Amino acid sequence: MVAPLLSLGRAGGVNHRPALRFYVHVPYCASRCGYCDFNTYIPGEEGRGSQSQWRGAAVAEVVAARRALDGDPRPVSSVFFGGGTPTLLPVTDLAAVLDSIAAHFGLSEDAEVTVEANPENITPGLLDDLLTAGVNRLSIGMQSADPAVLDVLDRRHRRDGAVRAARMAAPAGFDRVSLDLIYGTPGETDDSWRDTVRTAVDTGITHVSAYALKVEAGTALARRVASGTVAAPDDDEAAARYEIADDLLAAAGLPWYEISNWAVPGHECRHNIGYWSGDDWWGVGPGAHSHVAGVRWWNVRHPTRWIAALSTGEDPRDGQEILEAEQRRTEEVMLAVRLAEGFDPTALGAGAAVRGLTEQGLLERAGDRWRLTRAGRLLADRVTLTLLDPA
Ligand SMILES: C[S@@+](CC[C@H](N)C(=O)[O-])C[C@H]1O[C@@H](n2cnc3c(N)ncnc32)[C@H](O)[C@@H]1O
Ligand code: SF4
Repeated sequence: MVAPLLSLGRAGGVNHRPALRFYVHVPYCASRCGYCDFNTYIPGEEGRGSQSQWRGAAVAEVVAARRALDGDPRPVSSVFFGGGTPTLLPVTDLAAVLDSIAAHFGLSEDAEVTVEANPENITPGLLDDLLTAGVNRLSIGMQSADPAVLDVLDRRHRRDGAVRAARMAAPAGFDRVSLDLIYGTPGETDDSWRDTVRTAVDTGITHVSAYALKVEAGTALARRVASGTVAAPDDDEAAARYEIADDLLAAAGLPWYEISNWAVPGHECRHNIGYWSGDDWWGVGPGAHSHVAGVRWWNVRHPTRWIAALSTGEDPRDGQEILEAEQRRTEEVMLAVRLAEGFDPTALGAGAAVRGLTEQGLLERAGDRWRLTRAGRLLADRVTLTLLDPA
């Protein structure tokens, strides 16, 4: 049996509790993109052999979560299947985990259920099966429309594949579709990035996430940059691309609602807003992180170890920490600052620096709250540090 995970069900009382959410990690990919350091395994790697046992272990972790949260009356407000590549698994595997969450916790009436999907896996049949399983939001990894950029990123799909996949989703019945984009890849130009953003918007999707390419240590991209085969991404270029995206997306009716996210109003990702707002979430899967009632923990990273733990009734956690008041405040400020709805500096104990940051053009008033200006969004880490420690 999994060690009783604290008495979380009773910790903190049941009144005024934040929403409860599930993140479900699928650690498998058909091939590894050179820039990616996520916890994922490709054919031929030890760990990939675990794929057929993923479903049983994931369901077992949901059952363990129910036991740990015994007495917690909250239904689940959102479920996010991320990866890796969730669409590599049979949809019946994802459905089994979703059904288990629904059976053991209940899903709130308007629960958001997202699946991350790679363009090359998307077919009308897959979309139908996902809808039937209860998925109501799709997040597709388009990354770029520029063939040269897709090559540098080692993506398996081409521009047309991403466009075709995004266009297929709405007629199939998904009214909430997001595209993930990456900007600042060496070889990209301002014009090719404009074309990427316009191409994304023209597919009719209602949500875009765009992240600056980060060179993660230990990746193939990091080796190529170190050897000089690929240029290092340039911060100024990335900032210019951010501004281009922000202008084009806002003009197309997708204003920013979080530093790296834009949406048609009403189509924001509720799961991620919950994460930035400090909700509780349980991460199912190898390496998944959880945060419930001020306790944060993370599972063992390797799928084989995670499956072995759950199949023998052992605790799949690798570590945990209880957040001290100061840590909680730091996290609260860091996450709250990212949202366009703004924050109340006094409630966050961060009022002293607001005036200076406003004079520098990094913060602006939003009703009775404050939020980042666009210049502030480009320097969000600096703003956060100043809010936390104005000295
Ligand atoms: C890890 S992927 C999982 C989803 C799916 N497998 C895919 O590739 O689209 C989630 C997103 O993280 C982003 N990402 C991963 N590594 C990144 C990096 N080094 N720099 C910027 N964005 C990155 C990509 O935009 C990607 O769409
Ligand atoms: S970016 Fe997505 S498809 Fe590529 S290796 Fe990472 S998780 Fe897999």
